[in-house]
Amino acid sequence: MNFTLRQQISDKKLKVLRCPAGHLKDSPFLPLHVDGLMPNERITFDLFVKVRQKEGNSITFLPYWKKGETLQADGLEALEGLGIERLYVDIQSLDHVLAYLNNILCLQDNEGEPTPEKLTLLREHLHLSLYRAFSAPSLGRHIHLAEKTLNRFLGYLQRKPNAWQLVGQILYHDYTLYSHSVNVSLLGLAVMVFLRKTGRESLIMGLAGLFHDLGMTRIKVELMYKTDSLTEAEKEVFRKHPCYSYQMLKSNAAFPVEALRLVLEHHENADGSGYPQGLLLSQQHPFTRVLRALDSYDALTCPRPYRSAFKPFAALKIMQEERGAAGLVFDPAVLKKLIHFLAIT
Ligand SMILES: [Fe+2]
Repeated sequence: MNFTLRQQISDKKLKVLRCPAGHLKDSPFLPLHVDGLMPNERITFDLFVKVRQKEGNSITFLPYWKKGETLQADGLEALEGLGIERLYVDIQSLDHVLAYLNNILCLQDNEGEPTPEKLTLLREHLHLSLYRAFSAPSLGRHIHLAEKTLNRFLGYLQRKPNAWQLVGQILYHDYTLYSHSVNVSLLGLAVMVFLRKTGRESLIMGLAGLFHDLGMTRIKVELMYKTDSLTEAEKEVFRKHPCYSYQMLKSNAAFPVEALRLVLEHHENADGSGYPQGLLLSQQHPFTRVLRALDSYDALTCPRPYRSAFKPFAALKIMQEERGAAGLVFDPAVLKKLIHFLAIT
């Protein structure tokens, strides 16, 4: 452990930056929640802390634990006191980090009670796996791995009554392509369990939620995170992303056909004013309406550079009132179920 750094943070000579600021742009570092770390385990990658000098605005990533060190319980416990919720890993060591998390998941007692810590570990695994999947030339293996993690997550949700209530506690509160995808996926699983859908149906929703915006990787990052309003030409580019996602996933036998349809339809509106097909509610897959609502709900409840996050019920009110060219954008029946779901979480 870098004791000098720890002392500097403790003395407030360095300010720890708590959450990843916006999207990661060209940063070679990825966040890892400290709940994903296990005491007495040797790490096979460096762990960094994101800090700002007391004087000046420059943000730096400084090594906190070095590859080969064994994490001690007291060292991990001290992180909370230092205000460190997330550490960072170099993107080059992503495979080592995923192997480390996988090892911890295997050590975890799958049959036990779901806890926020266990679900956080699964969430972190899913989040970092998504970085690997979205940049991989071949998706098949990554879809299988994601399905395995989602299945494990689903098992926890199904095993304990009302365990879906835990999901609200572990969602990300920053808006990046990856955090958003994981949030929509986990919310989707939880809502489907709440609606007493089958495991298979829940998994379809989880997979669709995770990969629905894959096509965004074909859109320039500057456009994806643009804070000013989009021009008509930019909107046109943006509207292509469900088709891109569909094209990128359709040749993968690992991706279920039903989930593929949800991916293609996730921007369709109830009044037919959505895209790419302009489908009416009756023409959409019944789960499309759920995915459509969760996608917007997560976007509204996450802070953006140009506005704060909406509170859950304020977000739902906006959605209830949102109108397209010919009527309501969201299915009122789905919103009613979502309100019920959120009211008891
Ligand atoms: Fe989308």
